[in-house]
Amino acid sequence: MSIVGRERELASLRGRAVGEPGARALVLVGEPGIGKTTLWEAGVAAARSRRVRVMAARPGESEARLPFAGLIDICEGLGAAELAELPAPQRRALEGALLRADPAAGSVHAGAVEFGFGTAVRGLAAGVPLVIAVDDLQWLDRSSADVLAFAARRVGDARIGFLLARRPGRATELERVLERGSVARIEVGALTLGAVRRMLRERLGLTISRPLLRRVVEVTQGNPLFALEIGRLLLEQAVAAADEIPLPDSVEAMLGGRLARLPAGVRTVLLATALSDDLRLGVLTAVAGSDAVDEALHAEVLAVDGEYVRAVHPLLAAVARKRSTVRERREIHGVLARVVDHEPLRARHLALASTGANEQLASRLAAAAREASARGGRQQAVNLATHALLKTPVDSAASVGPAVRGARGVARRHVAGSGPAAVGRGRGVPKPGRGRRAARARAH
Ligand SMILES: Nc1ncnc2c1ncn2[C@@H]1O[C@H](COP(=O)(O)OP(=O)(O)OP(=O)(O)O)[C@@H](O)[C@H]1O
Ligand SMILES: [Mg+2]
Repeated sequence: MSIVGRERELASLRGRAVGEPGARALVLVGEPGIGKTTLWEAGVAAARSRRVRVMAARPGESEARLPFAGLIDICEGLGAAELAELPAPQRRALEGALLRADPAAGSVHAGAVEFGFGTAVRGLAAGVPLVIAVDDLQWLDRSSADVLAFAARRVGDARIGFLLARRPGRATELERVLERGSVARIEVGALTLGAVRRMLRERLGLTISRPLLRRVVEVTQGNPLFALEIGRLLLEQAVAAADEIPLPDSVEAMLGGRLARLPAGVRTVLLATALSDDLRLGVLTAVAGSDAVDEALHAEVLAVDGEYVRAVHPLLAAVARKRSTVRERREIHGVLARVVDHEPLRARHLALASTGANEQLASRLAAAAREASARGGRQQAVNLATHALLKTPVDSAASVGPAVRGARGVARRHVAGSGPAAVGRGRGVPKPGRGRRAARARAH
């Protein structure tokens, strides 16, 4: 796929040896659909072609994800031999966080995962320049974000660079840390009229009159995702007098329209991608059936990435989620709970699949919270503990006893923030049966 109209941005991405002194980080910032991922991928490819080692993560928006989900992706290519070079306590902590070993007995020493990762990447960068690349930084799980910020603080002279992309909003902690060095921020903006014309022709084989093109650019404000969606609509309607077409006035309305025209099975596929990060093809097939998965691939709304699958665009998943009913979401969480193979994730899906209190589930969630805590996944520990407390029957809090007390302990410890970077800032821990509504709003 060719990239149109981004010569300046591509020159910065290609010209800049991220990781060299004076070029610590590059951050792409822009609104949904404006083309950040497209540029981020080009940056990753450019780095790889220069024989830079790239460690990458593309987190999704779903709540149900593994503790340290982002870090697990980033460290995917980190071999056992490379980990073996770490001091034993750091290695054990990092292997626990990456789910490559059972959690250490008791809690992980605060900072052990952070130190382990920092030592590992500095070791790698001694041999070959390294780029840590994260797309959709705004969705990186907190535990992983803390680890990256910690590593960034200690990069020193190592040849480690960061290639980041995120939606507009407050700068993340990682960026604030990096800003002490040298960061280039690229504001990704509108495509020009000429670029939109080329994109519609190259991607969709669509050529339209100049007045209509002008209208498309005006309505979409040069947003490529939006312009492509309008292009698809124009193609579907095969109109000669397209000037008469009423154009929806937001990307969401546009995607909502496309979603409504898709078969129900394909909508289920998209909803499943919204409800679970780390969705494997086999798991998705169990949820939606292989015909629906094939149809979704055929309709080009589903992308396969190795053994994982995701919506071709996060906005499509977000719209599928927004337009689904609570019942549909519960059903999918229920199936996911049966087919995923990692207990904390399974417990989370069970919690999201069920209504009302459930003592057994509360104990299970409390155990999952303890396991996440033992691996050093503080944010997930707090989330799971919160779910555990929400599932605890009001009148039987005393009988659930140790499990619930454990969950409260986990949550309190981490909310207080004893690690190198305090987490769960400002988040309260509910008591069983008390303040549930507020807590539920936070947990969902
Ligand atoms: N310069 C470009 N040339 C051709 N196609 C583009 C260009 N920029 C974006 N696109 C296309 O537009 C769509 C949206 O782009 P992309 O996914 O990169 O947006 P994004 O900024 O990452 O959005 P989000 O914030 O929702 O993740 C994709 O289908 C992409 O292929
Ligand atoms: Mg993107």
